[in-house]
Amino acid sequence: MAFIQMRERIERQIEQRTMMLSGVSHDLRTILTRFRLQLALMPPVEEKEAMDEDIDDMQSMIEGYMAFARGEGAESSGVLDLQAYFDKLGEEARLRDRALNTKLSGSPLVKVRPNDFQRLLSNLIGNAFRYANKVEVQAVHTKGTLIVTVDDDGPGVPEDRRVDVFKPFFRLDEARNLDKSGTGLGLSIARDIARSHGGDVTLGDSPMGGLRATIRVPA
Ligand SMILES: Nc1ncnc2c1ncn2[C@@H]1O[C@H](COP(=O)(O)OP(=O)(O)OP(=O)(O)O)[C@@H](O)[C@H]1O
Ligand SMILES: [Mg+2]
Repeated sequence: MAFIQMRERIERQIEQRTMMLSGVSHDLRTILTRFRLQLALMPPVEEKEAMDEDIDDMQSMIEGYMAFARGEGAESSGVLDLQAYFDKLGEEARLRDRALNTKLSGSPLVKVRPNDFQRLLSNLIGNAFRYANKVEVQAVHTKGTLIVTVDDDGPGVPEDRRVDVFKPFFRLDEARNLDKSGTGLGLSIARDIARSHGGDVTLGDSPMGGLRATIRVPA
């Protein structure tokens, strides 16, 4: 009995937390939309561009909170074309003048929840670009398993922090993140998505000198 009661209490608590988080995110988003509108109507001033960027940053943080609060399970499974996704990434990297290498072996078609899986990939690749310069993404799809490694040449994550960085809102060494906005949810969302696909995300050392994030899922 005590165990069942405890379980119910925990469930209730998680539910309340999730409700609060999505409530707060939703309210903030409404105000942000108003900001954006006011800014668009303002006469052009020097600071406008920077303010626009701040609003963009806040918007993407709030979307991060919302995605986290929503949890997974909403999307149904489909087929993702990794080659097409890599092409899109390459195009984006070229536009932004960033060094990205992608490699794919095996069938490019994977059976996953496409939007969730793309969010998983883009959280890891986004981190690599945020904390490093050169990024290499490699996918190997064989015998019902897909392994994607994201390598970078940044500072990496010390071995004893590789558990912590997956915790929500945990960010390593704030000084290092100077000026780099983020919420510390990226990795925990990534892990949630990988696990809900029956796989996982792990961190290690990259031969490029930085972090290697490895996704392993049945696909
Ligand atoms: N490729 C990487 N190289 C070095 N440090 C990293 C890398 N990826 C993650 N980290 C460290 O792990 C922390 C947690 O990463 P996570 O993606 O969860 O949050 P974030 O990038 O800070 O914010 P966001 O919610 O916008 O993703 C980061 O703040 C950073 O300190
Ligand atoms: Mg991140």
